[in-house]
Amino acid sequence: MKFLIASMVATAYLVIAGPALAVDMPAVGKAKCGACHAVDKKLVGPSYIDVSAKYKGDKDAAGKIIANVTKGGMFGWKLGNQSMPPRGLAASDADIKTMAEFIIGLSK
Ligand code: HEC
Repeated sequence: MKFLIASMVATAYLVIAGPALAVDMPAVGKAKCGACHAVDKKLVGPSYIDVSAKYKGDKDAAGKIIANVTKGGMFGWKLGNQSMPPRGLAASDADIKTMAEFIIGLSK
């Protein structure tokens, strides 16, 4: 009985915490990019999973993502007329690097 309860608790924990942990976005991503990007769905901009798929297998993925986020612009997503603003909502170089690594990690 004790075992049964323990495994039920463990299962409930996995069900609740599992998906949230799998897509745990860095805090900077929520603060400076979250208005327009989510991990797994399109908002104003593409989902990070879609961006990750675009750069999968590209050896210079980090360099390209960092450059595009820093300078902003249009990258062919065709989601509307909105372009990516330079540095999102005032992200620093370190923030952008953190986000580039997070995005690349999604397709590994
Ligand atoms: C005001 C809304 C907005 C904010 C804030 C924003 N983005 Fe974007 N982002 C967009 C849009 C819109 C696009 C797609 C542009 C297009 O159509 O090509 C985009 C595209 C991108 C892309 C794809 C670039 C590529 O090479 O294809 C990345 C990566 C990205 N954003 C990361 C970020 C990060 C990281 C932040 C936070 C530092 C951020 N964005 C903040 C709107 C935003």
